Amino acid sequence: MTSPAETPLDAAARPVVLLTRRLPDAVEARASRDYRAVLNPEDRAFSGTEIAARAAEAGADAVLCCAGDRLDAAAIAALPKRVRVLATFSVGTDHINLEAARARGLTVTNTPDVLTDATADIALLLLLGAARRASEGERMIRANAWTGWTPTQLMGTHVGAKRLGIVGMGRIGQAVAARARAFGMAIHYSNRRRLPPELELGATYHADPEEMLAVCDVLSLHFPATAETRHWLNAERIGRLPPGAILVNTARGSVVDDEAVIAALKEGRLAAAGLDVFDNEPNLHPGYRDLSNAFLLPHLGSATVETRNAMGFKALDNIDAVMAGRPAPDRVV
Ligand code: DGY
Repeated sequence: MTSPAETPLDAAARPVVLLTRRLPDAVEARASRDYRAVLNPEDRAFSGTEIAARAAEAGADAVLCCAGDRLDAAAIAALPKRVRVLATFSVGTDHINLEAARARGLTVTNTPDVLTDATADIALLLLLGAARRASEGERMIRANAWTGWTPTQLMGTHVGAKRLGIVGMGRIGQAVAARARAFGMAIHYSNRRRLPPELELGATYHADPEEMLAVCDVLSLHFPATAETRHWLNAERIGRLPPGAILVNTARGSVVDDEAVIAALKEGRLAAAGLDVFDNEPNLHPGYRDLSNAFLLPHLGSATVETRNAMGFKALDNIDAVMAGRPAPDRVV
C-alpha cells in the first residue's frame, strides 16, 4: 500500500519483514503499510531452514514467526546476517533455539500479556469440558445416539468446592485462578516465588509442587516447556494426585508424558483430561483419540480475533522498535 504523498523510493527504502504464516487481516494490513511485507497467503508451514532460505531470498530485515515454526540452531545459523529481529507471534518461545539466537546477536521478542485472558478462558473450557463430559455428550448428539434425558446419563464431576492446583502462577495461572474462584474452587498453587497477598488472594502456596499434587482434584499446568520440564507430569507424579483427578494442560504438550497420561486415563486413575496442547503438534499421540474421557482442542488458547490481532500488533511493535534502534518492549533475547 503506497500513500499518495509517498514516492516509490520511500516504499523501496522500507525494511523487509517476512511473515512466516498467514496472519489476521488487520495485522497483515499494518505490516504491509509500514514495511515491505512478504506474506504467506496460502499459509504453508515451512521448516526452519526453508524460513531461513525465504528470509535470504526476500532480503528480510525482520522475521515475524509463529509457534510451530521450528527455528532450531541450524535454522538460526542459516538466517541471513541482515535479519536483526525474530518476533514470534506467541508468548511461548520453545520453538526457537534462544541460545543460538543469543550467540548470533539476534533479538528475539514474544507477545506476553495480550493472550492471558483468552488462554485462561480456554483452560476453564477444558476444565469444565473434561469434568462435565462435554465431548461425550456432543458426540452422542452428533451420532444421533441420544435417546433422551435419564437420571444417570453422563454424570460428571462437580467442580465447585474442589481443589484446583496450579503449577506456575504467572499471568495465565493467576487469570485461571480468578475464573476458578468464581466457580467456588479452592485455589492451591506452586510457583518459584510466593506471590504477595494482593495477588495470592487467599490461595494456598506450596513451595514444592510435588507436595501440592496430593491436594489437586484438578491440576492445571502453566509453566514453560524447557529441557528440564519435559515430561514433568510423569507416572510417578500422576500417582501422587488424588484418585480420579482431572488434568488441564494449556501450556505445552511436552510437559506431560503422553504414555503415562493415556495409561492413567484408561485406568481411571485420572478421571478426565482437558488438553489444548500436544507434543509434536499436530501429530499428537494417537492414543488420545480413542479416549472418551479426554476433551481435546487443537491449540486454541489464544484463538480469538481480538487476541490474535493484539498478538500481531505486539509483534509489529517489537519490530518497529528494533528497526528504529529502540529497545524492543518484549525482548526475550
Ligand atoms: C503461545 O502464544 O505461546 C500460544 O501457545 C500460541 O497461541
